[in-house]
Amino acid sequence: MSSLEPFELSDLFKTQNINSDPFTENFPLFFYVEYLILYPNYFFKSTETTSYDNNNNTNKNDDRISGYIMGKVEGSQEYHSHISAVTVDKMYRRIKISSDVLLDCFKNISDYISKVKFIDLFVKCDNALALRLYEKIGYQVFRRVVGYYDFNGLQNLKRPNDDKLDAFDMRICLPRDNGESLKNSGKNNRCLAEDVVFT
Ligand SMILES: CC(C)(COP(=O)(O)OP(=O)(O)OC[C@H]1O[C@@H](n2cnc3c(N)ncnc32)[C@H](O)[C@@H]1OP(=O)(O)O)[C@@H](O)C(=O)NCCC(=O)NCCS
Repeated sequence: MSSLEPFELSDLFKTQNINSDPFTENFPLFFYVEYLILYPNYFFKSTETTSYDNNNNTNKNDDRISGYIMGKVEGSQEYHSHISAVTVDKMYRRIKISSDVLLDCFKNISDYISKVKFIDLFVKCDNALALRLYEKIGYQVFRRVVGYYDFNGLQNLKRPNDDKLDAFDMRICLPRDNGESLKNSGKNNRCLAEDVVFT
């Protein structure tokens, strides 16, 4: 069974295998520290108690990190929480750790503690598994952020869609928002990263 615990800085040394997944967002160290200091409620991990060590063929009780989520709150009029990363160890996938444990808890904190209007996140347009996951639990594509992952390219709205370089900005509205934040949403609603600003 999964347990939830606050993420600690030293956990970065225990999550290399999780972070090596090409779809997992990796950040410079200061970014993790900033999130831990400013938004500690929004940075937590799931752990599993393992009773068998495959490497040594021995029994032991140990808590292993199966996944984590990090995020923040931002905006004033458009007050919302933002998921910066969510990821699950390959060994523990497809048993609902992201949907029923990490994302569900993130939503409860956003709704009942921070009382935000909506939650948003960016996902690579070619990350089919994550897209399926988010859509399954009620997130909708709000807009396509053209060239969001193209760190060397010129930002230009005229360039054609490129699923490897573009991001979908996805949102889920919480009850107090009444669907307002998803007005005019859709995959054909294109914008540049510089347009993603919140009042
Ligand atoms: C995407 C990811 C977080 C999903 O985590 P997970 O704990 O395995 O997902 P869940 O078990 O909660 O799956 C919930 C739903 O998502 C979809 N889904 C998740 N993994 C899937 C897979 N391998 N194949 C098909 N559908 C999948 C399914 O609809 C699934 O529901 P179902 O099992 O009832 O069919 C995980 O694959 C991961 O860490 N990927 C790498 C990092 C990443 O892409 N993060 C998101 C960046 S925005």
